Amino acid sequence: MNPLELDSFRALAAHFDEIGHIHIADLFEDAEHDRFELFSIEAAGLLLDYSKNVMDEETLQLLVAQARAMGLEEKREAMFRGEKINATEGRAVLHTALRNRDEKASLLLDGHDVMPDVREVLARVRDFSERVRLGAWKGHDGKRITDVVNIGIGGSDLGPVMATEALRSFATDALRVHFVSNVDGTHLAETLHHLHRDSTLFVIASKTFTTQETMTNAESAKAWFLADGAPASAVARHFVAVSTNEKGVRGFGIDPANMFGFWDWVGGRYSLWSAIGLPIALAIGFDRFEELLDGAHAMDRHFREAPLERNMPAVMGLLGFWYGNFFGAESHAVLPYDQSLHRFPAYLQQLDMESNGKSVRADGSEVDYVTGPVVFGEPGTNGQHAFYQLIHQGTRLVPADFIAAAIPQHRMGRHHDILLSNFFAQPEALMNGKTIEDVEAELAAEGRSAEEIATLAPHKTFAGSKPTNSILMKRLEPRSLGALVALYEHKVFVQGILWGINSFDQWGVELGKQLAKKILPELEGDAAVTGHDVSTNGLINAWKRLRSS
Ligand code: F6P
Repeated sequence: MNPLELDSFRALAAHFDEIGHIHIADLFEDAEHDRFELFSIEAAGLLLDYSKNVMDEETLQLLVAQARAMGLEEKREAMFRGEKINATEGRAVLHTALRNRDEKASLLLDGHDVMPDVREVLARVRDFSERVRLGAWKGHDGKRITDVVNIGIGGSDLGPVMATEALRSFATDALRVHFVSNVDGTHLAETLHHLHRDSTLFVIASKTFTTQETMTNAESAKAWFLADGAPASAVARHFVAVSTNEKGVRGFGIDPANMFGFWDWVGGRYSLWSAIGLPIALAIGFDRFEELLDGAHAMDRHFREAPLERNMPAVMGLLGFWYGNFFGAESHAVLPYDQSLHRFPAYLQQLDMESNGKSVRADGSEVDYVTGPVVFGEPGTNGQHAFYQLIHQGTRLVPADFIAAAIPQHRMGRHHDILLSNFFAQPEALMNGKTIEDVEAELAAEGRSAEEIATLAPHKTFAGSKPTNSILMKRLEPRSLGALVALYEHKVFVQGILWGINSFDQWGVELGKQLAKKILPELEGDAAVTGHDVSTNGLINAWKRLRSS
């Protein structure tokens, strides 16, 4: 279905002509309508204020009509029920089942109830993580495990590292959790440099157990571990695996008894709720990990049950569609005013861009509209001193999400009040801007000459009307983090439906991988490479000269 061909889209286009040019601040002038009350939603411990957007009640109704016309409600149900909505891979999409906390829940997939499997793996993750944390799981020579190194990449890294960093204040000091993802040997070397072989546990996390970067790092980690004379049998005490590929795990030399499984219906970037979350459980303890699942489950229920007009992920997804497909916004900023969420934008980049960076619809037909935005971000206030200039005064429209917790993880003087004053100020400044009249008056009050005022005023003027969402939670803790992550997962789902694309495959990552495999053997020896375009040949040959000079 082409979203542009729907009556609801035509209605939205007509509405855009009426409202698209209105300054957001002007929308607040109508005293009859409390925009905060109208355009804020509370769910699963999160408060979303989306009133600072170019929209009114009619916009929301029209966007919801578009979502309904695209079948959002039916497709949402299809996902929760386990229909194979990832058609190009013939797979169901059931990360929601991983955090279904209803003990009696069952979910049939090809006639098989997957819920007992989910519970069984979680029970094993509990047992193992508790044994390691309590020191009952020992290294091969009886030493307690003090360091865990998770080796994985993409979804087998970004979710766990993001959550572990976010929840660092809940982690035990007795067990340090490290993450190695990059095949650049520096990543592994610098991580191992500080560790002792006898007290280090490696978690090799790979859905496929074939990913080149992860397997290379895993082999090097094994070589490092064995380099000090430990017997090969010691590997069993120091290497465990999280994977769907038992044969691959066995081939690597890990006892399948030390393998934590998951299933093809868990997408890599949606997998932190599965055994891929093992490093999170090791860091914060399994009870806390369960709270993370609880928070996500609460958001799942909200997404599944709330009417679209009052549905947090739906509204956020719809606003992204509104800005991308009507205002021409090309990017979306995610700005957590919380240092603990410093890896959250990186995590979201994979979630959003690997999911919705598509240019054909689910049926293979080419889209004639834009799809997923470029997602970027940094924690506030750091970003304010880096790229906010462009958001405030640049020529591009950059819708932004601001995220903060009411209570800090660490109380320290006035730090949190200062941080939050910025969290409140930036969306207000982005919305209101500053008129040239105000700037001129300010400069005059400073005693500037008429000439100076005329020169400076355009530079100091802010157009304003930059759209933002603000997300506030009481405290960043496992439950609220789970809800926050699930919120974005579902937002991405909503947008995939609005664009008619399959958000759950990622064929776009294959081509580069294949070429790298072809190039790798060509890097051996000094013979000049000639089989590529002149640019690629030139670069490879220049590299060969550089390395041998
Ligand atoms: O980069 C592509 C990708 O397939 C991601 O979708 C995935 O999360 C990542 O590679 C890692 O895959 P695996 O867990 O199989 O090693």
